Amino acid sequence: MSIDKEMQDAINEQINAEIYSAYLYLSMSSWFEEKNLVGFSNWMRCQYLEETMHAMKLYNFVNERGGRVVLKPIAGPETEWDSFDGVFTQVAEHEAFVTKLINKLVAIARKLDDYASESFLMWYVDEQVEEEATADEILTRLRMIKGDNNALYTLDTELKSRIPALAVLPTILDQPIA
Ligand code: FEO
Repeated sequence: MSIDKEMQDAINEQINAEIYSAYLYLSMSSWFEEKNLVGFSNWMRCQYLEETMHAMKLYNFVNERGGRVVLKPIAGPETEWDSFDGVFTQVAEHEAFVTKLINKLVAIARKLDDYASESFLMWYVDEQVEEEATADEILTRLRMIKGDNNALYTLDTELKSRIPALAVLPTILDQPIA
């Protein structure tokens, strides 16, 4: 059974929101890179890749269900922030907003008795718990270390070690995970 048009259109909106998220985090990566905070910049690049994966997972799903992906214009992200914790305040708020969008998609799937979409979307429900928790954790640490450059560089070094999820490339290419 092909995907219902209402569900398809709502997922297409979410693809746009995920690509916007990728764009936002890439903009934040550039901001940190200019300040030579390469760990924060790396963390944001990883986030950029993972958001692209979120978009492509939805993209693949629409295709698998016999629907049609229609891409829309991506809004320009902010390019300047006034503080490090200001950046992560926006990350935390943005992720809370994305959680609401995901919840709305689940509500549409339930309304349509679309169990395949509901089951698929549960991955995003779980992912958002992690996305919000990670953003909140870094924000809390930044608020604690405010003004302490040594602590800032320690956190930056920690964030340097982040690598993207293994599923990023196979999902973008729609290939099995090796
Ligand atoms: Fe795709 Fe950060 O949520």
